[in-house]
Amino acid sequence: MDKQYYPEPIDTLTHWMHQQVVVTKSSYPSACVLSTQGLDGFPNARNVSLKSIEKPYLIITGSTLSRKGKEISTHPKVALTFWWEETKRQVRIQGIASTISEEDAHFFFNDRSYESKVVSTISKQGAVANDLELLRIRFRESVKNQQPMHKPKHWSGWKIKPHRIEFLEFNTSRFHNRVLYTRSEEQWDIIQLQP
Ligand SMILES: Cc1cc2nc3c(=O)[nH]c(=O)nc-3n(C[C@H](O)[C@H](O)[C@H](O)COP(=O)(O)O)c2cc1C
Repeated sequence: MDKQYYPEPIDTLTHWMHQQVVVTKSSYPSACVLSTQGLDGFPNARNVSLKSIEKPYLIITGSTLSRKGKEISTHPKVALTFWWEETKRQVRIQGIASTISEEDAHFFFNDRSYESKVVSTISKQGAVANDLELLRIRFRESVKNQQPMHKPKHWSGWKIKPHRIEFLEFNTSRFHNRVLYTRSEEQWDIIQLQP
């Protein structure tokens, strides 16, 4: 197996991520697809930004009242998927999500741009927009006022503890290199998969 595969998949992920960030032209290098189990049984997927890797957890943030928030609180088994064009790599992560502490939520909220803080405060993410123009006015006024923005109660994040991580090195021949890590107790089993 290639030397870039560490005994712990989170170290391989961190290594790959660093290699990707150095070469990417993307403005959102930490974007990934978060898949959840919908309350109606349909799988549901959307892009989010991976905020941090804090061994053994991967951290994402957002509104707990959003669709993803409600889905995660009902079904904590989630997936995160990365595709990195420049390094031609895919990473698929399945894990269990739990809410981060209030202290951590404050930390990540304070790290956001002023505009993002305003949007998270005035908008009920995913609710029907009955008067979008009014919301736009409130947004513009809040941005103009530059009042200190405090984290809304519903804004938080999730720490995902990986259970399975598959690394794929894409090959134009389609003879991809696929390495699967599966957690067994606190150890990781590592196997090579056929392309
Ligand atoms: C590149 C990119 C990054 C995003 N990052 C986040 C994020 O970190 N957190 C978030 O709540 N939404 C993020 N979004 C918006 C989500 O894709 C989605 O629209 C939102 O979370 C509502 O999803 P939901 O209705 O399933 O809860 C991002 C979208 C894009 C395109």
